Amino acid sequence: MSADRRPLTRREVLRIGAGVGAGLALGWIPLALRAAAASPDPPEAALLTKPIPSTGERIPVIGIGTARRYHVGSSEAERAPLREVLRAFARMGGSVIDTAPSYGTAESVVGDLVAGLGIRDRLFFATKVGSGGRGVEAGLAEMRQSLARLRTDALDLLQVHNLAGVDAMLPVLREWKREGRIRYLGVSTSFDRQHGALVALMEREELDFIQVDYAIDNRTAADRILPLAADRGIAVLTNLPFRRGRVLQAFGDRPVPEWAAELGIASWAQFALKYVVSHPAVTCAIPGTATLRYLEDNLGAARGPLPDEATRRRMAALVDAAPGRAR
Ligand SMILES: NC(=O)c1ccc[n+]([C@@H]2O[C@H](COP(=O)([O-])OP(=O)(O)OC[C@H]3O[C@@H](n4cnc5c(N)ncnc54)[C@H](OP(=O)(O)O)[C@@H]3O)[C@@H](O)[C@H]2O)c1
Repeated sequence: MSADRRPLTRREVLRIGAGVGAGLALGWIPLALRAAAASPDPPEAALLTKPIPSTGERIPVIGIGTARRYHVGSSEAERAPLREVLRAFARMGGSVIDTAPSYGTAESVVGDLVAGLGIRDRLFFATKVGSGGRGVEAGLAEMRQSLARLRTDALDLLQVHNLAGVDAMLPVLREWKREGRIRYLGVSTSFDRQHGALVALMEREELDFIQVDYAIDNRTAADRILPLAADRGIAVLTNLPFRRGRVLQAFGDRPVPEWAAELGIASWAQFALKYVVSHPAVTCAIPGTATLRYLEDNLGAARGPLPDEATRRRMAALVDAAPGRAR
């Protein structure tokens, strides 16, 4: 988010109000305040946010994942629904969009649509580099391609995808961070078999972020990875929060229990997401979201109270006992 570093105009400072003084004194302004200041169309009701430990910058606890559903062609018929989702996402105060070069056309689709809407400054672009396993040059070529496809001169977060070539790529990512071409760096996985290697990396490397699979019916990451992230001050994006929809199928048409409704939970999607983002170490969940209906539903999990520890245990027990649960 290179534009995020420009000086504020007097008008923007006045719009933000007194609270900005501390940020100015520190020489930076949080993303959400910048967006509120710069935008002629300010976000609607505020979404819950959490801080990125390495800087204190806050991001909303629900973002968007783009695997599969953003892999579309260039026709207006294919792109128009996604444009409306991205427009509404920004209007509602959403920010984090997770994508990857390996998601077919997804990076280009997001880049084109966001540029067309003129909302780049409101968004936090997280993408990945997966070609580092074939050598640093292949990784660098892919990173340059991501900047071009996403139509930006700086990425908010770059993650080594599934730890591919991670030892060779992390120094490259550090160099790009020094040069201001990425703001944060990290690594991602969604495989149990990589959890041990992820833990080892978290122990020995300085990472801003990890991304890991974590869902109400896939809680392995909570054993070691999430507590370690909290100890080491690493932000956590969680992928597969619905296990590609399987979590939701377990409940079918049953209504959510009344004790959950009291937390503002109106759907099983919100139930699953509030469980994930209420873990103290989780910064943001990135459910695959490609329709307005899902967007409204999923961002609803970033509003109202979050469950406490006792309620989280109750939620997990309910899912464990669900008759339709997919294992
Ligand atoms: N190693 C990695 O780095 C890695 C690996 C996996 C995923 N990821 C990231 O994590 C993101 C999330 O994973 P995912 O998209 O594969 O799976 P997911 O978020 O667990 O599930 C997404 C699916 O759930 C359904 N859904 C979404 N919102 C819903 C709602 N409110 N109500 C009912 N159904 C809903 C949609 O299914 P339909 O569209 O079919 O209706 C959607 O495709 C990815 O998009 C990607 O950005 C990263």
